[in-house]
Amino acid sequence: MNNTAIATQPAGTLHNYLAPVFAQYPLEVVSAEGVWLRNRIGERILDMYGGHAVASLGYGHPGWTAALTRQAQSCNFQTNAVPMSVRVRAAERLIRFSQLDFASVFFVNSGAEANENAMKLAFRMTSRSHIAAIEGSFHGRTAAAGAVTWGAAQKWYGFPRAPFDVSFIARGDMAAIEQQVTDKTAAVIVEPVQGLAGAVDLGAPFLEALRRRCDEVGALLIFDEVQCGVGRTGYPFAANMYGVMPDMITTAKALGNGFPCAALLASAKVTATLKLDLLGTTFGGGPMACAVMEAVIEAIESENLLERVRRVSAYIRATCIVGPVTGHQGAGFLTGLRTTRPAKEIQAELLECGILAGTASDPNILRLLPAFILEEEQVDMLRDTLTDLPT
Ligand SMILES: Cc1ncc(COP(=O)(O)O)c(C=O)c1O
Repeated sequence: MNNTAIATQPAGTLHNYLAPVFAQYPLEVVSAEGVWLRNRIGERILDMYGGHAVASLGYGHPGWTAALTRQAQSCNFQTNAVPMSVRVRAAERLIRFSQLDFASVFFVNSGAEANENAMKLAFRMTSRSHIAAIEGSFHGRTAAAGAVTWGAAQKWYGFPRAPFDVSFIARGDMAAIEQQVTDKTAAVIVEPVQGLAGAVDLGAPFLEALRRRCDEVGALLIFDEVQCGVGRTGYPFAANMYGVMPDMITTAKALGNGFPCAALLASAKVTATLKLDLLGTTFGGGPMACAVMEAVIEAIESENLLERVRRVSAYIRATCIVGPVTGHQGAGFLTGLRTTRPAKEIQAELLECGILAGTASDPNILRLLPAFILEEEQVDMLRDTLTDLPT
């Protein structure tokens, strides 16, 4: 077990001219390999947070690095106006990987941008002006994505008004689904497993009820799988895990393993409404992004990482309910550990022992979002460290 104190540094020392909008961990990373980060004085830190769920393959993955290098050397950029086989391959690969009945992919750059485009399509298809979202949701910081984010209006929204009508449904509240999703509703947007809220698994019955109600009133169902998608639950998407088919899935984070990219997967019904110039982007679907998306999916499939996520996440749940941890929630490698004390305290104590974990908007949830290559013996290090912390 590793209980040697790690040399942390005071938060904020690396801000310089960067906009002072991020609270920073007392840790400067200078290099990384696998699931390990290295700080300035050469100490190793086990990364159980994966850069907000981004580092799906971990650091320095050879296939990912080679794909990025190859594409950078052959052609680093062309817009969507110029056909490139790597873009076609990435779209095909993503749809095949999903094992879901999607007909097209629109590549963008970030989760918020994918959500903006999904909602825009829903408004156009239905000629309606209302979106229903779920309490606790996080969908991004842009005008539309922020408008459907729970609590944004009170905390950070910043735009003078929401660009459309929004209402929120309490988690698990079946009656509220009937009331809030009506013939005025263009779409319901939902994270099947809520991320920032603290790895909250909304469960199949609730998601099935949303699907049924959307069908009844002619609204579209959008799964925001920016955080929980691309293998993080141990399934290609949470939609596979729950057996609920949305009209659109938005995804990002794990899809690029650190190279910025995002995607909007659309059903045949949605795809049939697409026409020239309806959507656009400069960087989305760039060849470097497409090469890395292909490499990420290739690695997940060829290294059997979905099975690994299911196995090792079950091991976390079976072994890490120790010390100040009393329970778990979430799915796969979107795990919330319930803590007796404020999770921020435990996060700080873990970091001093060489483990980086995350927190959530629930103050008693420690959020784990490790790379899919995590092994049981690394979980043992977490378990042993948690065991020694005050309860
Ligand atoms: C579920 C979910 N949706 C959307 C977003 C926004 O993604 P981005 O920061 O790439 O715009 C996030 C980011 O944390 C997220 O977790």
